[in-house]
Amino acid sequence: MKRATSHTGKPAILGGSPTAHGIKREAWPPHGVPERKALLEVLESGKWWRGGTRREMAQSVTGRFEREFAKWHGARHGLCVTNGTAALELALRAAGVEAGDEVVVPALSFVATATAVPLIGARAVFADAVAETYQTDPAAIEAAIGPRTRAILVVHYGGYCADLDRITKLARRHKLPLIEDCAHAQGSQWRGRGAGSWGDAGCFSFQMSKALTAGEGGIVLSNSDVLAEKLYSYHHLGRLESQGFYDFHRVAWNMRMTEWQGAILGEQLKRVKKLTLVKQRNAEWLAKQLDLVGGLLPLKRDPRITRRGFYYFLMRYDARDFANLPKARFVEALQAEGLPVGQAYGRPIQKNPVFAEMRDARGRKLYAKTRTPVAERICAQTQIALGHTALLNRPLLQALVDGVARLKAHAGELAERFKEKPDTRAAG
Ligand SMILES: Cc1ncc(COP(=O)(O)O)c(C=O)c1O
Repeated sequence: MKRATSHTGKPAILGGSPTAHGIKREAWPPHGVPERKALLEVLESGKWWRGGTRREMAQSVTGRFEREFAKWHGARHGLCVTNGTAALELALRAAGVEAGDEVVVPALSFVATATAVPLIGARAVFADAVAETYQTDPAAIEAAIGPRTRAILVVHYGGYCADLDRITKLARRHKLPLIEDCAHAQGSQWRGRGAGSWGDAGCFSFQMSKALTAGEGGIVLSNSDVLAEKLYSYHHLGRLESQGFYDFHRVAWNMRMTEWQGAILGEQLKRVKKLTLVKQRNAEWLAKQLDLVGGLLPLKRDPRITRRGFYYFLMRYDARDFANLPKARFVEALQAEGLPVGQAYGRPIQKNPVFAEMRDARGRKLYAKTRTPVAERICAQTQIALGHTALLNRPLLQALVDGVARLKAHAGELAERFKEKPDTRAAG
């Protein structure tokens, strides 16, 4: 494979011309006549909600999308909700998690993966990550299981899959429900079957930054008829399918999705099925190119991931290849090249004030002793993330490869320059 070396000139941060200069960026999300038509149909139908009975819901525009999305991921049931956080809270409730229970969650994810747990009065117990894949470590999950554990929640971080072979096995062995947070993993497949169809429930977000979006929204997938009935009830103010419209049986939210969102999602899904494959092809190309340059590597390949959806294209930075330039400075230099990269969430979830300041009934900080050294190292030293939309833009990917090569060629100069200008920003 050819390796581009056309941009080893001066890095932009040292006064050179940015490698991404002049590269056209697509508007995100893509939309057009089909979305407009679908929205107008909802407008003119006069039916802006999806209805109250399970039958009405199934016949709605949103119901049609649910079936198509569930099928794409190999699940029997899909139930749309207001957002991804609600999807997680709903799945935990339907799986039987109650106040006072414990749920094992990843230390490395977006905060909502863990906040869904205290939202229902249960306690999150954090599990560390694997250095080469950034996914939750099955051994750490197992070590976090105790007598009060009522469920395991994993994330497919960045769209890469957690080790579902080991995690499904250990969940079965401990007789614990497994919930997959697939907010990053629209379209991802493990051994030929979709993310979100392996555990008891799979939760997705359709918030604006995701690969499939309606601005906001979410869905819970499951293969269990029993769980599907509970999901329906808990997302619908505690109604039961078999009872009257004004009979309420559970303390529960209204988490119903609108028909506007269902209409947009139906059209977006058609696009996303194609775009996922384009992104996957471009990501494979990028991974090979980065391997050739060295110093900023893709996550370790896992052949069990048979299709890869993306939220982030995650990379591993090795400062030793860049004259020990700190990661934050390397990212700054790449951003100066006009590249859409960042450090993702910046810290393990439990380091956020919401958890760092969380106290038990006796006023003791709940997470003062929590240690997830691998996740901490990933956040502080190695993790660099490229947003998924860049995977649709080959010239931009080429500019990233060129930018890395250029920074490598001038690493000593950059390290000197930053020594003169110490980093005074708060660590994050
Ligand atoms: C991994 C993960 N889980 C859950 C969520 C929550 O989704 P939402 O923003 O739709 O509530 C997000 C959203 O960004 C996420 O990235």
